[in-house]
Amino acid sequence: MPAHVVVGAQWGDEGKGKVVDLYTEFADVVVRYQGGNNAGHTLVVEKDGVKDKTVLHLIPSGILHAGKTCVIASGVVVDPGILLGEIDALRSRGYLQDPKQLLIAQNASVIMPFHRALDLAREASRGANKIGTTGRGIGPCYEDKTARRAIMMRDLLDEASLRAKLERILPEKNCLLAHYGADTLELDAVVVELLELGERLSVYIGDAGQFVNRQLRLGRQVLFEGAQGTLLDINLGTYPYVTSSNTTAAGVCTNAGVAPNALDGIVGITKAYCTRVGGGPFPSELDDEVGEHLRRVGHEFGSTTGRPRRCGWIDAAALRYAARINGMTGIAITKLDVLTGLDTIRVCTRYVADDGTEYDEPPMDAATLEGVTPVYEDMPGWREDICDVREWDDLPKNAQRFLRRIEMMLEVPIVLISVGPARAETIVLRHLHR
Ligand code: GDP
Ligand code: IMO
Ligand code: MG
Repeated sequence: MPAHVVVGAQWGDEGKGKVVDLYTEFADVVVRYQGGNNAGHTLVVEKDGVKDKTVLHLIPSGILHAGKTCVIASGVVVDPGILLGEIDALRSRGYLQDPKQLLIAQNASVIMPFHRALDLAREASRGANKIGTTGRGIGPCYEDKTARRAIMMRDLLDEASLRAKLERILPEKNCLLAHYGADTLELDAVVVELLELGERLSVYIGDAGQFVNRQLRLGRQVLFEGAQGTLLDINLGTYPYVTSSNTTAAGVCTNAGVAPNALDGIVGITKAYCTRVGGGPFPSELDDEVGEHLRRVGHEFGSTTGRPRRCGWIDAAALRYAARINGMTGIAITKLDVLTGLDTIRVCTRYVADDGTEYDEPPMDAATLEGVTPVYEDMPGWREDICDVREWDDLPKNAQRFLRRIEMMLEVPIVLISVGPARAETIVLRHLHR
């Protein structure tokens, strides 16, 4: 069946938005399957000769293409106010004119005001050990989902159900908020606010699982858009410095209700270097002028929070792990242009611990990973501007050598190379569906 997954292979912000927007031309349906508005996916398209930028937090990155359906699956945590803001902003710019273009799972969990407040309060209370969350309430919302007390999108259309659930959970939330010195919430005010949001969103809410599976049965091309990245996976990432969802390819199945054997291909996205936002280990991080070059030339500031991203060399040991656990069938390498002008490009190939232990893949224990020293392979860089390159043969020889080396280390073919933020600034080596 024609289903492909686009998944972040690092710590997020690999350029998933750009690649999904580009691939949507060949898709019928685009599905976000996990995470929430902690994500920030940037799309740049040429409109009347001008580069037009869109940053999406919840709506799938296929939304700029009319005639395609974008689905928010049940595994996503939805902040209804943020979602409405995103819908309104898109509509005012001429996108999403047909409400059938967007389908929100009726059983997706809702991010409530107390989730946001608790996320901020808990982070503040962790002091120096803070995770560096986006403060959007993601963790507390997934906590409630796992504890079987989530408010779902369909509850926003049903006052009795919403009120009954809130009567059960709000007293406990208010105790927690009071414990952290945060403002407590009043039940009626929360109900009124959510019902208003629900009414405005009602046209988009439906049975997403059934829709996606029917599309697959009909042979339609379905693209699953990951948020965050492999190393932020709650179960397989650098715990506890992770997000609260299953970000890896397998997450598609449980979060969107799709069988594992329905997936045909998994494209893992990596930058030609590496970044991370928030706390946690990052073996190939650079605290020097090269790190500064990457941040400045790559505009490495968060699309969601505006925080400066930590920058470092590409980490093939971590990517090897990502290739294995996602079952990557192709690699998309983004931001190759940002390496232009560097004399030497380093690739982290493995790590060594103080006691001499060598690791080909990251030990998934934050304290051990924090203590390792990266081992690098050095490669010569290039100076030619590559932003206008659209064919492999036109890339500088040293850029080709760098890419071939990554491909060899990961044993996965490169299917796409991105040389700039815009949709057109891309070298497509293999098409997904044709
Ligand atoms: P996502 O979260 O994975 O969708 O990635 P983000 O949108 O948060 O961050 C990627 C950033 O890099 C965005 O600002 C993109 O516009 C930009 N970008 C994507 N691909 C390229 C590229 O090949 N070159 C450059 N210079 N920028 C890129
Ligand atoms: P996209 O989809 C990069 C990071 C946060 C923090 C950790 C936990 O744009 O790639 P959370 O708010 O999820 O509880 O924060 O995860 N994080 C991201 N980093 N890109 C993202 O999304 C991220 N979403 C969460 O910085 O370290
Ligand atoms: Mg992002």
